[in-house]
Amino acid sequence: MKIGLIGSGGREVAIARALLRGEPGAPLSVWAGHANPGLTALTGHITVGSAGDARAMASFFQQAGADLVVVGPEAPLMAGVVDLLRAVGIAAIGPTRYQAQLEGSKAFMRDLLQSRVPGASPQWALAADLPSAETFLRRVGQAAIKPVGLTGGKGVKVMGVHLDGLAAALEEVRQELDRSGQVLLEERLIGQEFSRIALVADGKIYGMPVAQDFKYARDGDTGGMTGGMGAYTCADGSLPFLQPADLRAADQILADVVAALEEESGTAYRGFLYGQFMATAEGVRVIEFNVRLGDPEGINEMLLLESNAPALLAEVASGRLPAPVFQPCATVVKYLVPQEYPEKSPVGISFRFDQTAVEAAGFTLLPASVEKDGDVWRTLGSRALALYGSGPDPASISARMEDFLARFEPPELRHRKDVGSAGVLADRTAQMERLRGGRSS
Ligand code: AMP
Ligand code: GLY
Repeated sequence: MKIGLIGSGGREVAIARALLRGEPGAPLSVWAGHANPGLTALTGHITVGSAGDARAMASFFQQAGADLVVVGPEAPLMAGVVDLLRAVGIAAIGPTRYQAQLEGSKAFMRDLLQSRVPGASPQWALAADLPSAETFLRRVGQAAIKPVGLTGGKGVKVMGVHLDGLAAALEEVRQELDRSGQVLLEERLIGQEFSRIALVADGKIYGMPVAQDFKYARDGDTGGMTGGMGAYTCADGSLPFLQPADLRAADQILADVVAALEEESGTAYRGFLYGQFMATAEGVRVIEFNVRLGDPEGINEMLLLESNAPALLAEVASGRLPAPVFQPCATVVKYLVPQEYPEKSPVGISFRFDQTAVEAAGFTLLPASVEKDGDVWRTLGSRALALYGSGPDPASISARMEDFLARFEPPELRHRKDVGSAGVLADRTAQMERLRGGRSS
């Protein structure tokens, strides 16, 4: 099978590894934003091009004779690459342009939930002027303030976390109104977030091991929002603070959303659907959806996948959904990022990093927003390197990574020490127990 892949982050390196593990030596053509050294090490067929140029991508894969294309990031999906690929007879993993609005427009997403899955959203309002925003903010007390379109996970401001009091919140609203003319306001949810990503084929869904993403830049959930500083999964496929009913609720929401999208678009959904949920005292609520694998969560999941990935994804692209098999292990991914990320996007910082030491320590390195020249790596502004480890539980993997990084992390980079740590897991489990009033089931 000739396989195509779109994207150039750590997630795409993980997808490529999974694909080539399933079919060693299979021809893999990649359309990438930059020549990620993790991808160039796996395949010689990389073309660098724009993630928004759907026509160029489709003709690239047509010329490459691809049988199946896996789309990593959101931009090509919003640009309609899946519609174009299918139109020329190439099977694709990803939603159509219409369906991708679920991620591309938070207003589309909240409207769809309101009409099709009532109760899944926090209280929300789309405001186009300051007085109506103020009325909503006074009514809910604390809120999350969100740009309506895509921001790479970085545009959201949460009262009580990033914004202190009503005046600061209104100033944020005013700036967003100046920028885009509208702003999404949501009641602030209190609880624990989790990422449930499902494989989806023609109305059927299969929830992969649940991950918890670390969105904030710095330890203890401080600093700005990022694309995700790391993520962990547990050996049982759930998280310590989730109850079976939470996962059932999340999967039901995913299934309802797939049914709604398929009905409204008149087209089958074939690909990944990522629900970012908050477990609260009142039940599971939707923070947002992504119409693709998460990054970093997709790294945890693709490296855990035991099934033959090309065969599995070819089935999904044809509307069938055999149950995938995952290793029964816990995983941790930590991203190493430039010191000033995300406040700045420092490009061209050179560093050295001993890749053989990573392997000797039993970890896997997934290069992301970097280039490499001989032994010298150079940052391209965003998350630079992902470090992946597996083991019996996240806390022991996280601790082993800390030992390793204390010795080997380049001084130009930093990471979050607390991704998957014993302290974080204990605190979060205790918080959910408090919120649920000591109940467990
Ligand atoms: P989003 O881009 O919508 O995924 O939001 C980014 C981050 O902001 C989420 O991962 C949450 O940590 C936080 N956030 C978003 N919406 C809410 C909300 N309604 N209540 C509390 N936190 C939120
Ligand atoms: N880790 C969050 C995302 O992939 O959007």
